[in-house]
Amino acid sequence: MVRLGVLVSGSGTNLQSILDACAAGSIDARVAVVISNVSSAYALTRAQNAGVPTRVVSHKEYPDRDAFDAELVSVLKGYDVELVCLAGFMRILTPGFIRAFPGRIMNIHPALLPSFPGLDVRQAAIDHGVRFSGCTVHFVDEGVDTGPIIIQAVVPVYPDDTEESLRDRILKREHQIYPGAIQLYAQGRLSISGRRVLIQDHHHDEAACLINPSLDF
Ligand code: GRF
Repeated sequence: MVRLGVLVSGSGTNLQSILDACAAGSIDARVAVVISNVSSAYALTRAQNAGVPTRVVSHKEYPDRDAFDAELVSVLKGYDVELVCLAGFMRILTPGFIRAFPGRIMNIHPALLPSFPGLDVRQAAIDHGVRFSGCTVHFVDEGVDTGPIIIQAVVPVYPDDTEESLRDRILKREHQIYPGAIQLYAQGRLSISGRRVLIQDHHHDEAACLINPSLDF
């Protein structure tokens, strides 16, 4: 069982998908602790409902990012966390944090990286006119949304999409791929080679293809 530490700041639907996958036994992991930097985050209630320990570590109570991150590391180590999962955690981690969990921090991002890193990416995708967007689970490195990509899911973007409708379409897939990425890690099947994440014993579908708009006109 891989011990997970999940870092959150908000509603925690991704956390919920991880908790549900653990409870269902579909991933060989358990959530050892959930840490939020925001005390009102609904994600904390989700964790408590699942009987998982929670901690609030507010960035406002630390003089700088290094001190805040040092406290996060100390809480995570205190719960013997092996893999750190960022799930809507709205702080950028320092190099010191990243070095404390080398190759053992994942993040989920609501776009197809390396397109649309950063914030407000669903509206940015709509405004750019892309025909597809999606979500990405990646290992975290010292940049923002730049680390090696583990899994992506693709969804179409339609002309009448709003930020909300696209968010919901993407979120549904986030909830599939995050537990999936954790399970690949738990099975020891992921290795990092430069920018690439290699997955042991995985078949691929030569015929996979999505076209949007469809060609039936
Ligand atoms: C998700 O869109 C995720 O991709 C991004 O932050 C959001 C978190 O949502 N990193 P939730 O708190 O898991 O519902």
